[in-house]
Amino acid sequence: MNRIEVKQARYHSRLLCVVGLLLTAFSWAQAEPRDAEEIVARNCLGCHTSGAGGAPRPQHLGDWQALFSRYSEQQVVDHAYEGRGRMPARGFCSDCSRDDIARAIEVMLPESMRGRIVAE
Ligand code: HEC
Repeated sequence: MNRIEVKQARYHSRLLCVVGLLLTAFSWAQAEPRDAEEIVARNCLGCHTSGAGGAPRPQHLGDWQALFSRYSEQQVVDHAYEGRGRMPARGFCSDCSRDDIARAIEVMLPESMRGRIVAE
């Protein structure tokens, strides 16, 4: 290899490195889950804090016990994701995934029920 070829080789390996970093950053940004607390504050508490229309209130054990006595965890997530009765689909969070909704529900569960929907 002459000097120019060595320079080119170094340049190429640096370029590859930058491309690699960009790809990593991009996939990381894509996979980054939405912050559940933020979703709840923005999309859920408006209705759920008061419990209007039968919405289970955050951290109210009785409300959630009554719910889980009727439905499985999966059904509860389905209802919140697809909507049911006066519960609007995804609480109007149109870009929330099913997983985002599951984690948002988890945030509203009382302490003693944590881990019931999304295992930590
Ligand atoms: C416009 C008001 C409103 C918003 C916004 C809202 N909810 Fe609800 N939600 C309700 C009501 C009312 C019910 C009770 C529905 C019923 O029993 O028919 C309910 C029920 C639920 C249930 C119980 C579902 C079941 O199995 O019956 C879950 C879980 C739930 N909401 C989660 C959420 C989450 C998570 C968000 C935010 C992403 C959210 N809700 C936003 C009003 C709302």
